[in-house]
Amino acid sequence: MIRPREYARRRAQLMSMAGEGGVVILRAAPHRVRNSDVHYPYRQDSDFLYLTGFREPEAMLVLVPDEGDGTSILFCRERDPDKEMWDGAMIGTEAAVTDYGMDQAHPIEEADRLLPELLQDHVRVYHDLGRDVAFDQRLINWLNEFRGKPRRTFHAPEEIVDLGHLLHEMRLFKSRGELAAMRKAGRISAGAQVRAMRACRPGLTEAHIHAELVHEYMVNQCEPAYPPIVGGGANACVLHYIANDQPLGDGDLLLIDAGCEYDGYASDITRTFPVNGRFTGEQRVLYEIVLHAQEAAIDAVREGAQWDDIHDVAVESLTDGMLELGILEGDREEAIEKGLYRNYYLHKTGHWLGLDTHDVGDYQVDGHSRALERGMVLTIEPGIYIRPDDVNVDPRWRGMGIRIEDDVVVTKDAPENLTGRVPKAIDDIEALMAE
Ligand code: GLY
Ligand code: MN
Ligand code: MN
Repeated sequence: MIRPREYARRRAQLMSMAGEGGVVILRAAPHRVRNSDVHYPYRQDSDFLYLTGFREPEAMLVLVPDEGDGTSILFCRERDPDKEMWDGAMIGTEAAVTDYGMDQAHPIEEADRLLPELLQDHVRVYHDLGRDVAFDQRLINWLNEFRGKPRRTFHAPEEIVDLGHLLHEMRLFKSRGELAAMRKAGRISAGAQVRAMRACRPGLTEAHIHAELVHEYMVNQCEPAYPPIVGGGANACVLHYIANDQPLGDGDLLLIDAGCEYDGYASDITRTFPVNGRFTGEQRVLYEIVLHAQEAAIDAVREGAQWDDIHDVAVESLTDGMLELGILEGDREEAIEKGLYRNYYLHKTGHWLGLDTHDVGDYQVDGHSRALERGMVLTIEPGIYIRPDDVNVDPRWRGMGIRIEDDVVVTKDAPENLTGRVPKAIDDIEALMAE
């Protein structure tokens, strides 16, 4: 688990970037209604979680860099025995200080009264405008308290600065503690994929496999990082397929894109394998092309490589393979330049991974593709999707969707694969499924 000391270190680092005259304000994610008086399971806002480890709604964090050595103030719910009878233990202002390392904690009801005072004599407010319009309005109300008052005796904030700019750059680089959490998320998610491969056979439905995945997450006290994609046959060609309710056909492939979240950190794995445990000739050929592209792209994850290089490696490799099979025609340069491959490979080769599955962090710096640096974590997930009704392609390839995805860390040497425990070589998959 990420320790209170690490959360404190993150707040200190952010405060040193915000600097004198700055105040940082974040609000906790609201508890969202599903229907009637049922709520969705609560998930804290990732930025808020990153700075606090605090997993309750109705909270706000205020960081004041130039008060003492930097002051962290949490506004949160007070403990309420009646409420605890219904919903279980609450954290409360006392534990916010003793267990969460805050310098001060106040009941959330005090926010409107205390905030104008806290903002006085500061010139910049760091906040993510636009994420929560109701909260933005409250912030503007606090700032409006200074309007029309003579400023001879105090300063008032004149600027709202984008907080994401500072915070998301921090989140992009994973600490040792974060990497440990992500290794664990990767291990549990890999276990779930293996469990699904073992369970899979004709006669089951996608729903059975979905249940196997969730079972493995839950017994490890994790939850899905995103709704699992369990697509048999041509359903694998629907990139965001989540219905997961169709029968699994003998002779079809099954694509599973699923990962859990451990201590807030996501894992994101895709494997594609035969429902009956044996690849057909065609499946084998197309699968090998995707596997080759994925391995080449993983190998390209090196310190100093550009973000776009990774995608280019995958595109070149997939294009070569599809040209060889006659799925694409013409020469390589043309197929790449004209983007012909995009008919069958329409997404990017990966994304940053962390507290969010599609994690924060810029992919470009000053208009140029970003160089990879140690401690960044990204997915590598090339695929080929041939829609069942694509008359431009030989019928033998139609209706196949194949993606292979792993999570890798940029290190000073070869990339570290966090999700390598799930087999992806054909022989290894077949051997596992035959057990
Ligand atoms: N599972 C979402 C993605 O692979 O990007
Ligand atoms: Mn995925
Ligand atoms: Mn992904």
